[in-house]
Amino acid sequence: MNYRHSYHAGNFADVMKHALLVALIDALGRKPSPLAVLDTHAGIGLYDLSGQEAQATGEWRDGIGRLLDLPSDPAMPPALRQWLDMVRAVIGAHDGRLFYPGSPTVVARMLRPGDTLTCCELHPDDQKSLRRLFRHDSNVSVHGRDGYEAITALLPPRQAKRGLVLMDPPFEHRDEFARLAQAIITARRRFATGIVAAWYPIKHRAPTRAFLNSLRDAGQRNLLALELTLRPPLDPARLNGSGLLVANPPFRFDHTARAILDSLCPVLGDEGAQASVEWVVPE
Ligand SMILES: C[S@@+](CC[C@H](N)C(=O)[O-])C[C@H]1O[C@@H](n2cnc3c(N)ncnc32)[C@H](O)[C@@H]1O
Repeated sequence: MNYRHSYHAGNFADVMKHALLVALIDALGRKPSPLAVLDTHAGIGLYDLSGQEAQATGEWRDGIGRLLDLPSDPAMPPALRQWLDMVRAVIGAHDGRLFYPGSPTVVARMLRPGDTLTCCELHPDDQKSLRRLFRHDSNVSVHGRDGYEAITALLPPRQAKRGLVLMDPPFEHRDEFARLAQAIITARRRFATGIVAAWYPIKHRAPTRAFLNSLRDAGQRNLLALELTLRPPLDPARLNGSGLLVANPPFRFDHTARAILDSLCPVLGDEGAQASVEWVVPE
């Protein structure tokens, strides 16, 4: 396991993923019944952007770094504003030091009494950091186990009939797209009423098309692909864009996501950047 998210935290892909995550949890939170969230690849939950790893790549500067100084804009989509306020609150709680909330922190801050978050993190050091972060949160549990295996072991959630499974693997393995597709299918089979959101990298088109087509060909329905490309995805050696596939999205989530991506696109991308919202398979 070589991947460490602290090198990449707060980059453009995190910005897109976390703003959309806030929109998903917000939509789920509109109904009073409890919800359960499973974060299969959780990371450490909180990243020090002034730390050695984040500074080594500086990726966050072209991600959250571009948003922090934006003037307050009443036209900003509510979920994007809510997420930015959350990031600023986390920084404020650390005396202005640049600490960036990862997916477990984003979710944990939005949970209501009765809601639960289950996190899986396989890296021993990251798992320890995550446990420490949530040691006082009774509605958050941390498992040092394989997130893909947890889909079979922990779904459907015992605590709630509604919820979200977030899958955010590091794409270290050549077969990660295939494993992710299978995991999405398994998660939906075991938790049919749940929303499944899976992050994927866009380097060039062929692998992402094959991934989406494999799900369509497997008979999966109600699949929405949200993508942000910083530049035309032609160089397979670069992360040219970021995607989030959402299965069973909330009502009108395509409109919500479109507004968020259209706001982010000119801030994060340069000329040629594109946002896309596509029904891979409708309901
Ligand atoms: C992209 S990062 C997660 C970032 C996090 N979701 C966020 O948005 O803040 C992927 C994480 O998955 C962990 N990981 C890798 N393989 C795993 C597996 N099979 N099960 C659980 N965690 C895994 C890595 O150690 C890494 O911390």
